[in-house]
Parts: sequence; C-alpha cells; structure tokens
Amino acid sequence: MNSPVMQGLTVNAPAYVKNAKLIAWVADMAALTQPDHVYWCDGSQQEYDRLCQLLVDAGVFKKLNPAKRPGSFLACSDPNDVARVEDRTFICSERKEDAGPTNHWVAPAEMRATLQHGRPNGEQALFAGCMKGRTMYVVPFSMGPLGSPIAHIGVELSDSAYVAVNMKIMTRMGKAVFDVLGTDGDFVPCVHTVGAPLQPGQKDVAWPCNPTKYIVHYPESREIWSYGSGYGGNALLGKKCFALRIASNMGRAAAQESADAPGWLAEHMLILGVTNPQGKKYHVAAAFPSACGKTNFSMLVPPAGFEGWKVTTIGDDIAWIKPGPDGRLRAINPEAGYFGVAPGTNLKTNPNCMASLDRDVIFTNVALTDDGDVWWEGLEQDTGHLPAHLIDWQGKDWTPEIAKATGAKAAHPNSRFTVAATNNPALDPAWDDPAGVPIDAFIFGGRRSTTVPLVSQGRSWVEGVYMAATMGSETTAAIAGQQGVVRRDPFAMIAFCGYNMSDYFQHWLNVGEKLAQTGVTVPRIFCTNWFRKGADGKFVWPGYGENMRVLKWMIDRIEGTAQGVDHPFGVSPTYEEVNWTGLNFTAEQFNTVTSFDQAAWQAELKLHNELFTQLRHHLPKALEETRARLEKRLAA
Ligand code: GTP
Ligand code: SPV
Ligand code: MN
Repeated sequence: MNSPVMQGLTVNAPAYVKNAKLIAWVADMAALTQPDHVYWCDGSQQEYDRLCQLLVDAGVFKKLNPAKRPGSFLACSDPNDVARVEDRTFICSERKEDAGPTNHWVAPAEMRATLQHGRPNGEQALFAGCMKGRTMYVVPFSMGPLGSPIAHIGVELSDSAYVAVNMKIMTRMGKAVFDVLGTDGDFVPCVHTVGAPLQPGQKDVAWPCNPTKYIVHYPESREIWSYGSGYGGNALLGKKCFALRIASNMGRAAAQESADAPGWLAEHMLILGVTNPQGKKYHVAAAFPSACGKTNFSMLVPPAGFEGWKVTTIGDDIAWIKPGPDGRLRAINPEAGYFGVAPGTNLKTNPNCMASLDRDVIFTNVALTDDGDVWWEGLEQDTGHLPAHLIDWQGKDWTPEIAKATGAKAAHPNSRFTVAATNNPALDPAWDDPAGVPIDAFIFGGRRSTTVPLVSQGRSWVEGVYMAATMGSETTAAIAGQQGVVRRDPFAMIAFCGYNMSDYFQHWLNVGEKLAQTGVTVPRIFCTNWFRKGADGKFVWPGYGENMRVLKWMIDRIEGTAQGVDHPFGVSPTYEEVNWTGLNFTAEQFNTVTSFDQAAWQAELKLHNELFTQLRHHLPKALEETRARLEKRLAA
C-alpha cells in the first residue's frame, strides 16, 4: 500500500516557517505516518517545561526532588530498549561496496519498500500509520553554531516527546533554525518513530517501542529513518546518525569536489584544551569507542603534581574537523549537550561531570532514591556506603542485600544523563566558536585488558593512521549484544562510518598528505589504553585524572623534550619521562601497563591481517606496507 492520504489534518506550519520543501516533506510524512497532531517545536524554555510536564503527567518522567536536583527528571526505558542496536543499523547506498564490508547494507529500493512504500503483495510499510494516536513533533536543529559556515541543519520528525526534549539539550534546537533555512535552505530529513501506534482509547505505556528496529541511512539522498527504538543514538538522530554516519559522507564528498579540496572529517572524538602553567594552550581530539572514556577525559581535572595546568572541554563525543584559513586542522563540536554514561561517574573520577549534573538534567535508566534523587553504581565511592534502599531502573526494590544475592544493578550499565554543555564548569570559552580550535594531536584509545601499552606514538601520519585503523577494543554496554569481546574498531568508527571503511582510511591518508603539502605541522598521532589489567583482574592504571600524566608526556613529545623508547609499534615513554609527583606508581607497575609481549603482538598482528583481508577492496597500499614493515620488525 502506498502512503495513505491524510484526512482532517493539516500540518499547520507556523508563519515563520518559509521553506516550501520542508513543509511539503512534513505533509508527506504526516500523510504516511498519520499522527493525530503535528507540533512544530520552537525550542523555547516554556516549551521545554511544558513538554517535560506532559511527560510527567504521562508517567514517562519522574520529577526529581527539587531540593536535591532542581529542574531534573528520570525516565526508565523498556528493558529491551537500552542501547544502540548495531545489528539493526543500515547504510543503504545504491552500491553495496560503497557501504563496505563493515556496514549492514540493504538496497535503497528494498529498504524503502519495507519502511515507506510497502509491497505489491499488500505488505504494509512499517511507517504507514506508525504515529496513529500520537503527536508528531517537528524538531528543527543545527549541528554546530547556528548560521556558521561549518554547521549543518537537520529536521527530526519524531512521535516521542522524550526525543524532543532531549534534542533541545543535545543540539541548537528551535525557531532560529527556520530563519537559517529561509525559503530554500538545505536540511537533512530525519524521521523517527517508536513504532507503537495507539488505537482509539488505548492506554499508552511509559516507554513505547517496538521489538522490530531499523536505524536506516541513505547516504546519497542524506536521509535518516529510525523505527522502533526511543533510546539514545537510535532516536536522537542528530548524534550518531547525522553527525557521524551522514556527516562522514559529507566530509568525504567535499574532498571529491576538486583534486586539491581536502574535504573534512566527522569523528567519534572528544575535543579538549590543555593549558600549561606558562599559559601555552594545546588542543587534542581523542577517539575512544563507546563507553571507553571520552566524556571523562574531556573533563579531566589535573591531579596533584600538575599545579597550574588546566583542561577545558570543547566536546565529549563528536568532532567535525576541517583545515582552517591557516591550513591547520580545526575542530568543532557539532553538539550542544552531553549524553553521557552515568555508572562510574563520581566526585573522584569526574568532579566536573558531577558538578554539571547538579541541575536541569534528564536521567535515563538510573535508580531512584527514597528522597527523590538519583543513584548509580560508583556513587558509593563518594559516600562510603551503599544506599539502604532504592527503586532500580526497572522499577523494582533494590537493597545491598538483594544486589549481593542476585547481582542486580540499581542503574543499567548504559544508563545516561542528558545535560547542556553550558552546565559544565570546565567548558572551554571557544566551545561554541564557529572557527573551531587548532588540533595539535589525535589520540586513539581502545579498551584492552592485555597487549596494548598505556601510550605509544606513531612515528608518522601513516603509522598513526595504521594504529587507528587496526585498533581493537572490548565491547561495552553502550551496544546491545555481548560485552567484553575484543573486536576491531577502526578509529572508534566501526559503527559510525557511513561509507566504505577502506575509503575512509584513504580519506585520512589524503588529508594528512594534503596538510603536509601546505607545510603546516601535521597533528601527532598517539594510541592509548587505560584498561590493562593485572593478574588480579583489576585495572593497573588508576586512570581518570591521572591520565593527565600521559597527556603531559604527549605535550613533551610535541615540544621535543621527551625521547621515549622505540618499539615495533611506535614510541612509548620511559618511566623517568612521566611526572609521578603525587602518585605512587612503581616502575614495576609501569612495566605492567607498558610492557611489550612479543607473542601477544604476533597474535594481534594476525587480527590486523584478518581486518585487512575483510577490507581488501580499496584498502590503501600504504597500510599494507606498514603492516608488512611491522611484521618484519616484530620477527627481528
Ligand atoms: P560514550 O558516551 O558511549 O561514547 O562513552 P565515552 O567514551 O564518553 O565514555 P565515558 O567517559 O562515559 O566512560 C565510560 C565508562 O568508562 C565509565 O563507567 C567510566 O567511569 C569509565 N572510565 C572512563 N575513563 C576511565 C579511565 O581512565 N579508567 C578506567 N578504569 N575507567 C574509565
Ligand atoms: C555511544 O554509544 O557512543 C554514545 C551513546 O555516545 S549513543 O548516543 O547512544 O550513541
Ligand atoms: Mn559516543
């Protein structure tokens, strides 16, 4: 069946919406999905408050005790909708090879039949009537500062008020976007439904969703269609879907416009500024896989021994990176808020984050305390004890005794907070600067219990790209499915690169080459691993604020004051080169996190090889050559 004609409903665009293409598209989508109402978000505080109250009245939100956590709410999801669904994420390019072997691919016509058009045999499209009984929210948003030449606009149509209020925090959302769009501006159309239409009189549930899920991208027409989930990156479509999967396509397409156009990069990276006691400032962008420490590193508080040093946050999850007028790479954070992991966050690990969460926060899937506040695993480190009683994220009673007996977690391991960047006391003054910040170094860091050292530096751009391309990491709760298994996660982009991964490697190599040709200093590339474990199964490296010691060594490398030791996979620090003031970390412990195990690396190289076999079509020669060279050094 084709899109049914909508009856008795006009889309009622406000007078200030003047983009005919946008209005026509909203009308088409309303005709297809058949919501009861269409509501155009203006992004105002009054609107936010009103929608939050509506969510409270509907039982989706619990308002937290204003004396404890003013302006804050808790939502708890369906237990089957708690993380990104990578298995159900599709890149629907015209040609399969353009999606590449690391993405799930379905031909666009086939996917459109499933989602949008239905089939001649009478099979209904999933989106046909999917918003019945609900309101369609029209959510206009800008990724990047409004009106800036680097920003891009999206409009998300969603039948979830939870999505609308989260988008208000996570992006520059509202009326001003329509001014930028004008009569004929371009936008990325994003359609989202929880996939749970309501029959007349049917009572809604607190977290509507559908066991069938589709997170779909059409890179050529730059569209996003999301069905069946209300959670995080599945539903807040500005984030992973737009700012990474679609934007990675845009950045590469920009390089194809002419032979010398460098294009740009859309990366799963935090961006931070680090200022030394003399006032010299450096900027670092770091790619760690999901739930591997980006938010924490971006808000790092320098420990004892680093008096006069300052770390400031530009972004905590996504970076858009382009050469600036001086030829250097500059990075902006396209987002305006943080959708961060709650468990493990406390005053010791991340005091800046804790301060950010004092007020005006939406929490999802954490536990509720008896006095109307929130709790998650890790907060006991601040109080010295577990709470006597909680309501866990699934609405059940939780006590330390129950937890001990059943292993029940009070908060889901992928429970999260949504909070405005402006709540962060360590926010960098340039976080909103359309010009971005100049990048001195890139870091790539996986979660590995073994093998990979605390830090090493690639000896060249190509070697750095090789290290990033072959990065492995143990899977986390941020992804639906098995946890703790090592998988290759090139550039922490395995789930987010919207095109062929080999072409993406080539794009990175090209960017480096073009930078070098202009004579600017090319950013250094480092590899980190905060997560090596000892014989007792515990992390050896204290991590968090102590990661400053590693960051300082990187700056010393940039300044040419640290020599390091050369090994087959790059350059790592000697024990003496690291500032240990204020931390008792012995040379022996240091050895545990930096030692180089020949046999383990031989096994690791086999895995690099497996990845390269999978990616052999279009795989850059330079990477194969690097691998061959490393193999030779390792055998020597
Ligand atoms: P996404 O939002 O999923 O992209 O995650 P992220 O990369 O921002 O990770 P985040 O900083 O939220 O950290 C995820 C988990 O790792 C939290 O439970 C942290 O407490 C923990 N973590 C972060 N940094 C460190 C570290 O340096 N050492 C150790 N051991 N754990 C860390
Ligand atoms: C991630 O999984 O990398 C996240 C959370 O940052 S989500 O927004 O759900 O993608
Ligand atoms: Mn992330």
